[in-house]
Amino acid sequence: MELGKPHFTALPPLSLYIHIPWCIKKCPYCDFNSHAVKGENFTETRYVEALMRDLESQLPQFWGRPIHTIFFGGGTPSLFSARAIDDILCGVCACPQLFADAEITLEANPGTFEIEKFAAYRAAGINRLSIGIQSFNDAHLHALGRVHNAGEAERAVEIGLKTFPRVNLDLMYALPNQTEAEAKADITRAIASGVTHLSAYQLTLEPNTLFHSQPPPLPNDDTCGAIEEAVHGALAGAGFSRYEISAFAREGETCAHNLNYWKFGDYVGIGAGAHGKLSFPNRVERTVKAKQPEQYMRAMEAGDAVIERRELARSEFGFEFMLNALRLTEGVSVTLFAERTGFPISLIASQLDAAEKKGLLSRDHLRFAPTELGLRYLNDLQELFLND
Ligand SMILES: C[S@@+](CC[C@H](N)C(=O)[O-])C[C@H]1O[C@@H](n2cnc3c(N)ncnc32)[C@H](O)[C@@H]1O
Ligand code: SF4
Repeated sequence: MELGKPHFTALPPLSLYIHIPWCIKKCPYCDFNSHAVKGENFTETRYVEALMRDLESQLPQFWGRPIHTIFFGGGTPSLFSARAIDDILCGVCACPQLFADAEITLEANPGTFEIEKFAAYRAAGINRLSIGIQSFNDAHLHALGRVHNAGEAERAVEIGLKTFPRVNLDLMYALPNQTEAEAKADITRAIASGVTHLSAYQLTLEPNTLFHSQPPPLPNDDTCGAIEEAVHGALAGAGFSRYEISAFAREGETCAHNLNYWKFGDYVGIGAGAHGKLSFPNRVERTVKAKQPEQYMRAMEAGDAVIERRELARSEFGFEFMLNALRLTEGVSVTLFAERTGFPISLIASQLDAAEKKGLLSRDHLRFAPTELGLRYLNDLQELFLND
């Protein structure tokens, strides 16, 4: 065994992330790698070809390892035709190792144009739909710069539920001028729809977004606190368990793809700006692809779009693992640390002690988990695991 290197007895479960980098227009709060469609720059066929090359070029790196989950994220994957999604999934299925009952999620925006494609996405093999509703209130949707209205949101949920066995809704709260009653009405509406998974995010002003340079009138801290409590309370009261900082699910309905990230699993990322993390018997490698769609497609046509490839250093494993695992309300088993990082838990013993002393972490010999306080001050808790 090489000193200072991880040592894996078994490699972590593997997921596949597929990034679709276009949207009808850029929302003013969004810092995802998404680009407004401007006629010429939206080239579906060429992008699908680039994705297939991307996947093929990485195959030797994960040959023989089964793919447990697939996630089409964006951007707006539902801008793509069902034919394109089908072509991509056919390409993926050509890898002999896709699990027969793999969870395959697609993110969709609730416009009429996308709703019409839901049945064809299902036929292509998508078995979980994640709809970016954000709010059921027209005034708030408008303030967020969304291209859809509340009526379309309602219809998307209704048709989504009729078409897919599993549906998630993304909601945001603490929106410009939003009251507690309005936030409560949104979450009540979402719960009443019958979906089994909800992601509820507090709106944050991300650097490099329009909302950051021109902040909208957000509710004050007290109202934000009251809104969050109301949202979490309504979800708990309706039987949704908060299993991750922003993710809520009914029994057995957690998102396997995201859980794999949070449990420090492996993932292959294909598409513009996609990140990947792969473990090998004695190293873990992270990769990032070219971010701009045109730059990515050109690079893939020339053979390789990786702009960053680096091996994780021993000093990074503690933070990288905890950054993810501490998002989980029930925490993780102590043994998972060694299984997923390839290092013994003693690597982070002093930081675990410090976190426990501050009341941010609870643990016994089997598990460790963030406390209520730790979840509230998650950044502070995570930072304790940063090495200088
Ligand atoms: C990749 S995005 C988008 C999916 C889809 N394009 C959409 O917007 O409906 C995933 C989710 O992150 C959330 N999100 C994006 N930007 C956010 C922000 N600044 N603050 C809080 N949540 C945000 C939204 O709920 C969004 O649906
Ligand atoms: S539609 Fe989604 S990904 Fe696109 S800009 Fe808006 S929030 Fe970002």
